[in-house]
Amino acid sequence: MAAGPCGRPLGGFSYLEILEAEALVATDAEEPDRRDFLILAGGAFAAVGGALSLWPFIDQMNPDAGTQALASIEVDISPVKEGQAITVLWRGKPVFIRHRTPKEIEEAKAVDVTTLRDEYARNEDLPADALATDVNRTKAGHENWIIMIGICTHLGCIPKGQALGDKKGDYDGWFCPCHGSHYDTAGRIRKGPAPRNLEVPVYEYLSDTKLKIG
Ligand code: FES
Repeated sequence: MAAGPCGRPLGGFSYLEILEAEALVATDAEEPDRRDFLILAGGAFAAVGGALSLWPFIDQMNPDAGTQALASIEVDISPVKEGQAITVLWRGKPVFIRHRTPKEIEEAKAVDVTTLRDEYARNEDLPADALATDVNRTKAGHENWIIMIGICTHLGCIPKGQALGDKKGDYDGWFCPCHGSHYDTAGRIRKGPAPRNLEVPVYEYLSDTKLKIG
């Protein structure tokens, strides 16, 4: 298994390796400010800590590896409260799903894209030259959600920012401790060596509470 310079796995890591790579936290429905962290993988899902039963996640298939590599996944985001985040595994990659707070949305929208290192949205649903506005990094009517591939664009580590107690960097988004890259609340690179914004995969809302990724 290839590993990033920090020893964290590159893309293609397994479910269990993701579990090892991230500090998982318990769900605490009483404290919506705390970030919950859940890993979902092709044929199975798990949460570390209590309150697993609070997460009525996903009708799971159990495909073989080849099917899994091609598959779209559906994610029930209804249990994810404002201020919480989950991570799902899709095509061997972690996908960050964060239910952003009004403050996080406001911070993301306030940014002048001409000041960004990477001015492009990096959104697979949009043309390559679409600018990295918050609007272009999210979907209309669902601006409170941000969905991104959770792999640092520097050397492929998994940034912190999903789990309870994680450092989220100087811009309240995600922080990659490997070499100190800071991403903002729209997943745009703001500081450190990473060259590009976190990638936004193809996804759609099947309903207000169900996502289809891929
Ligand atoms: Fe180097 Fe993220 S892999 S900063």
